[in-house]
Amino acid sequence: MDKMPQLKTSRSTVSGYPPAANEQYVTWARGVRDIGREHSFEPLEVEGQVPDDLNGVLYLNGPGLFSHFGSPYKYWPDGDGAITAIRLNAGKTWGACRVLESQGLVEERKNQQPLYGSVGTAPASWLDRLRRKYKNPANINVLHWAGRTFALYESGLPTEFDPLTLETIGETNFGGVVDSRFAAHPHHVPRRGTTYNFGIEYGRKTRLCVYEMRPNATIHRMVEIPLDWPPIMHDFIATDNHLIFFIPPLKVQTATLLMGVGSVMDNIKWKEQLGTEVIVVPIDDPKRVTRFRTDPFFQWHFANAYERQGEIVVDFVRYARFNMVGRINVKKSKWKGDNGSRGYFHRSVINLRNKTLTHEQRWDQKCELPVVFPHKEGQENDTVFLGGFSGERARKEGAVDQLVRLNIDRGVQDIVSLGVNTTFTEPHFVSRKGARSADEGYLLSLTYDSDRDRSSLVILDAEDLSAGPLARCWFDHHIPPVFHGQWIESVRPIK
Ligand SMILES: [Fe+2]
Repeated sequence: MDKMPQLKTSRSTVSGYPPAANEQYVTWARGVRDIGREHSFEPLEVEGQVPDDLNGVLYLNGPGLFSHFGSPYKYWPDGDGAITAIRLNAGKTWGACRVLESQGLVEERKNQQPLYGSVGTAPASWLDRLRRKYKNPANINVLHWAGRTFALYESGLPTEFDPLTLETIGETNFGGVVDSRFAAHPHHVPRRGTTYNFGIEYGRKTRLCVYEMRPNATIHRMVEIPLDWPPIMHDFIATDNHLIFFIPPLKVQTATLLMGVGSVMDNIKWKEQLGTEVIVVPIDDPKRVTRFRTDPFFQWHFANAYERQGEIVVDFVRYARFNMVGRINVKKSKWKGDNGSRGYFHRSVINLRNKTLTHEQRWDQKCELPVVFPHKEGQENDTVFLGGFSGERARKEGAVDQLVRLNIDRGVQDIVSLGVNTTFTEPHFVSRKGARSADEGYLLSLTYDSDRDRSSLVILDAEDLSAGPLARCWFDHHIPPVFHGQWIESVRPIK
């Protein structure tokens, strides 16, 4: 029987809610301001007991600085990337935070003025817009591959950093293999020991470039697929044998952008008459692509995909139309609203022979950031962990106020909430050492408590979320919302 959602209370649960009439901040927008402090690894204040079999480092990435030289970025996800790292070892914890010194940020600091734009912030001058001076803030995800660690941003190259000091090493195109863009959501296929990713190269003919990162530490371009329109696309998904892309009808108006009119965000249009294009790439024969169009929809994130008797099952959060990540007045840390589109968890099925895609909604609550057990990626799986938006403010503001364990066939199994003023970020599952099943383990999430204005890593028993945190590891400052990251069991010094 499904467990009833249980509200976990903490010191911060009730105070401050509902917000006073003169309240300046809403739940998580208060945290959308420059990172509290940059520092190397230092002990965190622990509430509860950190499991002593949880050993590794959780690397997280998100925007850390929200203005340049007094001029706030127009769109908070444009912020310069900052890496937060939390090391857990034998029941002890340390945390470190450091802003990535991207080439653009270094240049701006040297010149003491804003020189670049980003997705939602146009370069300051028309000439710079014509020159397409866009910064790579390296602020979306972390990839540890072949002993190297990278900060990823979808409209730029990977930025390598030292996993021990968090010092920025610099951008790489992997010896010329990657053109100019490497998406922020690579997917690992455990049965192949290989990681896949893509980049969208805009131009006279927009191309979807697909990359394969092999276990022998080499990276190859698998295939280049011409696209019918220049889209914005954030994620894709992989099975053991196929890579699946849903190309949304979110079109970049390249002509006006090239004329220097506005930012990238000002120049994207939802063109639902195009529909969504489904592209399936067989890993062993990547040029034999299946592609077809279906009804329009949008997605930010996939959970998983697997094959089932000639069909491909895809689990993801589906939006009826484009959803813009919440808009915040960065200067006032104040919520400005979004475009109202909500995402719901769906299980969809691709029939390759008939070229059809059918959808089934599997949970009736707005949600995002779906993840599955890392060892089940690409394979049949019935469990997904999600960020849920339960309270009225959370639904409106897109603030994740609960973590959910969902059985895709049977419904919600478990929910944890830490009160209306605490927001979660993406959950990360780590298997418990020596457990009978790799499905037993811990769920980790960086949380922000807007009452205390501090962030903490929450460690939960993944099989009993509603029991509340096993431990909370507190930073003595706030960390702005992180997007994604990676758990790494062992990191070695850079040679
Ligand atoms: Fe993402």
